[in-house]
Amino acid sequence: MALGSHFLDELRARITISEVIGRRVKVTRAGREYKACCPFHHEKTPSFTINDDKQFYHCFGCGAHGDVIKFLMEHDNLSFMDAVEMLAAEAGLQVPKQTPQERAQVKEEKDLHGLLEDVTCYFEACLLEPRHSDALNYLLDRGISRQTIKDFRIGFAPDDPQVLRKVMLEKGYSDKEMIKAAALRPGKGSGKDPYTFFRDRVMFPVPDRRGRIVAFGGRVLPEHLRPPQRSDFTPPKYMNSTETPLFHKGRMLYGEPTARRAAAEGRVLILVEGYMDVIACVQAGIGGALAPMGTAVTEEQIITMWKIIPDFNKVPILCFDGDNAGRKAAGRVCERILPLLEPGKSVRFAFMPDGEDPDSLIKSSGVQGFKDVIKCAVSLFDFLWNSYTQGKSYDTPDEKASIKKQLENEIARIAHRDVQEMYRGALRDRISTVFYPPRQKQKFSKGQSYVAADVSMLPKKPRCGHEDKGALRELFFGLINYPFIFESVEEVLSTVAFKAPRLEQLRQDVCSYLSGAPDAGHDDLVHYLEDLGYAQEISDICNESVYVHASFCSPSANEENILSKWLEYWNDYNAAGLEEEIHDGWKRAYLDSSQQEEEKLRSLLSARTGEEGT
Ligand code: GTP
Ligand code: MN
Repeated sequence: MALGSHFLDELRARITISEVIGRRVKVTRAGREYKACCPFHHEKTPSFTINDDKQFYHCFGCGAHGDVIKFLMEHDNLSFMDAVEMLAAEAGLQVPKQTPQERAQVKEEKDLHGLLEDVTCYFEACLLEPRHSDALNYLLDRGISRQTIKDFRIGFAPDDPQVLRKVMLEKGYSDKEMIKAAALRPGKGSGKDPYTFFRDRVMFPVPDRRGRIVAFGGRVLPEHLRPPQRSDFTPPKYMNSTETPLFHKGRMLYGEPTARRAAAEGRVLILVEGYMDVIACVQAGIGGALAPMGTAVTEEQIITMWKIIPDFNKVPILCFDGDNAGRKAAGRVCERILPLLEPGKSVRFAFMPDGEDPDSLIKSSGVQGFKDVIKCAVSLFDFLWNSYTQGKSYDTPDEKASIKKQLENEIARIAHRDVQEMYRGALRDRISTVFYPPRQKQKFSKGQSYVAADVSMLPKKPRCGHEDKGALRELFFGLINYPFIFESVEEVLSTVAFKAPRLEQLRQDVCSYLSGAPDAGHDDLVHYLEDLGYAQEISDICNESVYVHASFCSPSANEENILSKWLEYWNDYNAAGLEEEIHDGWKRAYLDSSQQEEEKLRSLLSARTGEEGT
């Protein structure tokens, strides 16, 4: 990166890290430091500390550690440059721009923001003019209060296609700028004047995440106020600004600034369909409402919602119509979200009663009526399950197999391996409880694994630097008690090593014995190991206190679940090892900031997200 360390030092010095963090997490003073519940892992008592003098944060629970830039990168999921830009704006510093083009671009955007701000003020003033009182009354009749009109800066665009242009030219803006901001359309044909895009419409200015107006949505007045002029053409109910350098429809969410504040207060984010839904929700006290711009929600918008939620668990609620079309739309969104899922990141689905949208529901049943619907939101997994099973029969093995296969195909689209593994586990559980109610459950014998575990999904990279932590011992304990799982776990087990030489020898002996004797049971294995002189190690490992942490490996555990529990445990163990390495990596990259350490860290981080290094 080309930013000088001098600039970054200056930036860190001007920013108070506890204030930045304090806007996202509840912090309390503790002597010279601040404390908070760590936003990077789940905890009830605070082990996350912030030191303003040293300009860094550190979590004694999970080891998260870094400066204010890193905090924003991790917490708000911003790129390095985005984090720096955001902090620089707050500190009143100008991020050094490399090229004249970049400088020119910044200036142009600033000018366009100013222009759209002036347009917004003009529309606001028009709405309050007596000759446009029918527009104002329309809004008031719909139950929008004067305060809400002010808060959302709702306005009115007069019918005259030249009036906005005249006003803005007087203010010193050029046609070119106004066209660039999509406030005007170029004249049709040469020599024709540019004209306004929005005419005789109620105007909803669209603020970006920082509250700057970047676009508009305009709604026609209802038929009783504007009887149709032609029988062959109905103007679209809503129109949006065309895309401009400031406005990318698929990226914006209407209501984002309000929703950000609500999310920071711990309120749930609720994605609704349209402008009026957001406005009605916020007016009713549901501040977390936002909406896409008249299109289906995009990946980018989902990711934005995740970024806005300042908690490890980011689960916005997506509202859909309760009819078939609504379910289909939800299905398409689900398709889009599966590849994006990560631990802590998901969505839930809420379905409106027939014929209602959030705005109309709040009007007919009050805000409680809407909240009741939100309360019934289903998880992504349940939504998937429901969409393949509801109204379907699954009496025959073929029907069961077909449903299972279709759900497996969906789950295979989840890119994150841990999340995918959890979904597979949930699917297995759901299938066994719904398809095979307990009474009919088959009995499984040793050597037969109930679950066809997809070992290829599991992390295989050998990890060094692990202590001989309890987890690895427990995994071995599970294997010794249930040798029949060996076949499924052999591959992953070959990638670990105990540090203690004696335990490592034991591991190797267990593996080589079981690969030669696949049908061996617990007693066979233990006798064999005792003969080799491992009595002491076995009694060390197979200590009953282990059952407390890892009940799955106890001899009285439910045999059917052994393998899936074992694999879950394995995943946790691996993730813990990786996190430990990442933590050390951050520390080293932070302390000596060498290229090499950064590379190493980057590859660890991409191992965590399961992506190729970026
Ligand atoms: P009201 O009728 O005012 O209650 O609006 P609504 O929010 O209920 O609108 P509706 O459910 O019809 O549409 C939801 C969203 O889709 C709107 O907020 C718009 O963003 C978008 N939309 C609706 N109609 C049109 C249209 O004709 N053109 C475009 N581009 N977008 C539309
Ligand atoms: Mn509506």
